[in-house]
Amino acid sequence: MAPSFDFHIFICQNQRPEGHERGCCLSKGSDKLLNYMKARLKELGVQDLRVNKAGCMDQCEKGPAMVIYPEGTWYCPKSIEDVEEIIQVHMLGKKKVERLLME
Ligand code: FES
Repeated sequence: MAPSFDFHIFICQNQRPEGHERGCCLSKGSDKLLNYMKARLKELGVQDLRVNKAGCMDQCEKGPAMVIYPEGTWYCPKSIEDVEEIIQVHMLGKKKVERLLME
């Protein structure tokens, strides 16, 4: 039987050379956001979800890029506080964080 999660979260960890015209999510701190999300969800005991590193998702200029399935909600969190809000409102509250949605 295929695994099933309430949420499957992908956060881009792509790195490009400094000065690249498209930039990259890693240079904007996406590794810290991913590590925080994993640690915080574990601390809160939230289960039935998976947080995965992703390669480039072609949203580089808007990054750090995050997408949450199954609904396919795209976010661009810039800070630990933004990730905390996504955890509290989206994952625990089952509502979208409108201000952090990727346009
Ligand atoms: S580098 Fe993150 S979406 Fe392209």
